[in-house]
Amino acid sequence: MTTLKKTACVQVPFLKWAGGKRWLSPLLSKVLVAELKGIYFEPFLGAGSVFLELKPKYSKLSDINEDLIHFLTVVRIYPEEVVRAVWRWTNTAECYSKVRNSVPRSDIERAARFLFLNRTCWGGIYRTNRNGQFNVPFGNSGRKLCSLHHVVEVSSIFTNAELIAQDFIISIREAQKGDVIYADPPYTVKGENNGFIRYNEKLFSWNDQEKLAHECEAAKQRGAFVAVSGLYHKDLLSLYNSWWALKMSRQTSVSRDVSSRRKVSEVVFFSKKPKSLPIELEKQLKYI
Ligand SMILES: C[S@@+](CC[C@H](N)C(=O)[O-])C[C@H]1O[C@@H](n2cnc3c(N)ncnc32)[C@H](O)[C@@H]1O
Repeated sequence: MTTLKKTACVQVPFLKWAGGKRWLSPLLSKVLVAELKGIYFEPFLGAGSVFLELKPKYSKLSDINEDLIHFLTVVRIYPEEVVRAVWRWTNTAECYSKVRNSVPRSDIERAARFLFLNRTCWGGIYRTNRNGQFNVPFGNSGRKLCSLHHVVEVSSIFTNAELIAQDFIISIREAQKGDVIYADPPYTVKGENNGFIRYNEKLFSWNDQEKLAHECEAAKQRGAFVAVSGLYHKDLLSLYNSWWALKMSRQTSVSRDVSSRRKVSEVVFFSKKPKSLPIELEKQLKYI
């Protein structure tokens, strides 16, 4: 089995997102573009690594995270204002705690706060407490806050996209023949919270995984091309009967502590055999 190495990515997202697919986006975008005749759907958008690489003409992008969707709808109209608002702050523990405790008074303030917290929190994780307050600790990454050029460039790619905060089921049900769906849900394995990544106060349950597989199968039957990411695990494989599975291995990168990184096997399920897959990956593709 081939281990995917970090590939230079053409389009770097401006958000750092736990479980982000920047490492996969150069390969996956080539596979998906070859299948796309209609609208591109990404119902678990996060930082949108695959969308940014693909740059589709027509797209419907969604995520359950309202702060994320609000941020994207504001920054694509007012990138400069958002960046200048972020530049008032510094990547220090003191400033982080001040901004995290603040209540924004305008859309630009809210978008700037979102971008700042994303760039300075621990591991690009978005997690809120039961009252909906962001509660991720300071990342101490020393990372540069953001570059105006980069934010203007990336946000312009979202200009014509339809952006909406909603559950994946509503989005997937819209896809029709000729459309492409890329679903990248939080990773879950049956019977455990899997300890991999917690995004939210509400975990993506095994029941959600079953619903996702059901909705994706229905979209496949309507003639959409569907790709779904997950952990390579027998329980998940059992949900995608008569699909194609592409297995890939890599080091997890949520932790900066190299000793605690571990090798994980991930999978992308395809609703039919992809037309465009590099020859070296064909031997990792399995009909299940
Ligand atoms: C693995 S991340 C996606 C990462 C993205 N592919 C990227 O490259 O940045 C999973 C996303 O699913 C979203 N999510 C969790 N539950 C959801 C639901 N029920 N409906 C829609 N989105 C959901 C989370 O907010 C998170 O942004």
